[in-house]
Amino acid sequence: MATDIIAKPSKHLTLQEEILELKEKRNAIILVHNYQVGEIQDIADYVGDSLGLAYRARETDANVIAFCGVHFMAETAKIINPEKTVILPDKDAGCSLEISCPGKDLASYLEKNSEKNYYVIAYINCSAEVKALSDCICTSGNAVKIVESAPQDRPILFVPDQNLGAWVMEQTGRKMDLWQGSCYVHIEFTRESISRIREEHPNAEVIAHPECTYAVRMLADVVCSTEKMVTYARDSSASQFIVVTEEGMLHRLRKEVPGKLFIGGPTDNCSCAECRFMKMNTLEKLRNCLRDLTPEVDMREDIRAQAEAPILRMLELSR
Ligand code: 13P
Ligand code: SF4
Repeated sequence: MATDIIAKPSKHLTLQEEILELKEKRNAIILVHNYQVGEIQDIADYVGDSLGLAYRARETDANVIAFCGVHFMAETAKIINPEKTVILPDKDAGCSLEISCPGKDLASYLEKNSEKNYYVIAYINCSAEVKALSDCICTSGNAVKIVESAPQDRPILFVPDQNLGAWVMEQTGRKMDLWQGSCYVHIEFTRESISRIREEHPNAEVIAHPECTYAVRMLADVVCSTEKMVTYARDSSASQFIVVTEEGMLHRLRKEVPGKLFIGGPTDNCSCAECRFMKMNTLEKLRNCLRDLTPEVDMREDIRAQAEAPILRMLELSR
């Protein structure tokens, strides 16, 4: 797409105003994950979890999708929207789960174990190459449903998050083989760090993401995706919550559930947990990517086409 349709800003605009002006000119939509900094969340067309964002990306008629999250999320938007321009503020915003499962390692594992005829369920936090090798994708918001709808006559290989996989096994009773990946942010919460904060706030409920370890999940009143944390906190009779996930979630909870107290879950070393990849995005980089239409997500068409089928299967199954 030509970049010369964008005139220089005529007056002294704030960064937010510049972004909104560029968004109009580009016919763009700004999709934002719950872990982004508050100032990016505040100018989003939609803020949500990986599942909600995938649906929004599927439904939009905008020409350009500006995706503020991490690379695999923007890549997912591109896989289901090959004709659209998908940009992201920082192309280096990766994910430790994606890194833990390189496509070539999964391909050779599947080849070595071909006699097992695995049904591969891939958590959406993975590369397009891994999605292309999978039968169905899931997010933390629909993993239980996706595993329950898997064929009974084939063993399941769940990649790449061992903690989400173990939680789904507990919920469904279905045995699965688990890839040994993990989120470097969520495994930092410990039984000790969460027990301590709970003692300080005895009336607070603990809400935890399923990427946390078993020891931490055991201390939680509810284990759920980031989107479900919002509805849970709104509907609960409790007025205080310890939120055991990335700290960006607190902004959305405080904004959308006013009048209740949200306390960031601490780790052993820090008062709350921050994903360094999610925090690579800034308002300035978002302005630049809308202005220059770069960095843009791109991939080989054969991989894109193979990765699309398991994503569409997920969207169909979790309606
Ligand atoms: P959600 O899909 O629950 O938003 O989680 C995404 C993620 O990256 C968690 O670390
Ligand atoms: Fe990946 Fe963990 Fe960051 Fe989520 S919080 S994007 S799983 S590294």
